[in-house]
Amino acid sequence: MSLLSARHICKSYPIKNYQFAKDDSFDAIKNISFDLEAGKTLAIVGESGSGKSTLARQIIGIEKPTFGEVIFNGERLHFSSIKNKKMRFKNIRMIFQNPYESLNPQARIGTTLEEVLRINTNLSNKQRKEKVANTLSRVGLLPEHQHRYPHMFSGGQRQRIAIARAIILEPQVIIADEPLSALDVSIQAQILNLLQELQEEMQISYLFISHDLNVVEHIADEVMVMYRGEIVEYGSIEQIFDQPKHPYTQTLFASTPMYRKRFKEFEKPDFKTKKGLKEQGCCFAQRCHFCEPHCQSKPPQLIAQEDGYKIACFKAE
Ligand SMILES: Nc1ncnc2c1ncn2[C@@H]1O[C@H](COP(=O)(O)OP(=O)(O)O)[C@@H](O)[C@H]1O
Ligand SMILES: [Mg+2]
Repeated sequence: MSLLSARHICKSYPIKNYQFAKDDSFDAIKNISFDLEAGKTLAIVGESGSGKSTLARQIIGIEKPTFGEVIFNGERLHFSSIKNKKMRFKNIRMIFQNPYESLNPQARIGTTLEEVLRINTNLSNKQRKEKVANTLSRVGLLPEHQHRYPHMFSGGQRQRIAIARAIILEPQVIIADEPLSALDVSIQAQILNLLQELQEEMQISYLFISHDLNVVEHIADEVMVMYRGEIVEYGSIEQIFDQPKHPYTQTLFASTPMYRKRFKEFEKPDFKTKKGLKEQGCCFAQRCHFCEPHCQSKPPQLIAQEDGYKIACFKAE
């Protein structure tokens, strides 16, 4: 049994169609399923706007999915159940791209961290103080840092504080949404190492959202590639990084300097987006080099192989 599973998650947002003065909806994510095992990392990659953060919000329970379910430790999580909410809050924690935005600027960081313990545990005052000091040391900060405010730290240190807040309740899952993107390259490696050490020590599972393939190659066990709200390819790190099969995944590699050489074969002359294609076909049809007429008339199914590898492409069928 997987620790955390998503089943057929869909999320659509209402939008106003002013041209026809009617309400419409926009499907931000469609039919997303995955399984995350204890102590493992599932990376979610895809360009901006592909629905990665939307998926994170459905999993953590900030928003209610339009359809589908989240299963944690064999139990289906209900959006409105208080008991579920508490359990989810304790066991599934989140780290965001910009740590400054997610920390209260007016609170000393010791207060912020203690607050999490005060609400979610029965620890005594003294025990909470000890736990805060230990957690700060654990993420590479000093216990005396608890008296400082967020603005007194560097970006990397602030991300360490955000990590401290995420691990202080000893969660089983951490959802990290582009946790390195706002940091200097030199700091990124340190934070990545810290996340890896914590995973080993605490057996944490990561749902790791990133558009940086190099980072993903370092940390992930499995990779899920999303395009316009859909899964186009899903496989082990070896399957995706040794031999990406979906034309979109291939495009991602070919457009990343670090992998361009390795995946030279995928480099294609720049295709113009084909306008006016009907929405009913494959989500990637408009940009695909291999697009054929039938790709535009019906969407390919996401087909799973026995080893768990999945791809949605007629070319692969
Ligand atoms: N609350 C919302 N209302 C309407 N559209 C939204 C909302 N949140 C996200 N979207 C849209 O959903 C799509 C996916 O967004 P997002 O999940 O932020 O992508 P990513 O994190 O991969 O960059 C985008 O087109 C975005 O504009
Ligand atoms: Mg995002």
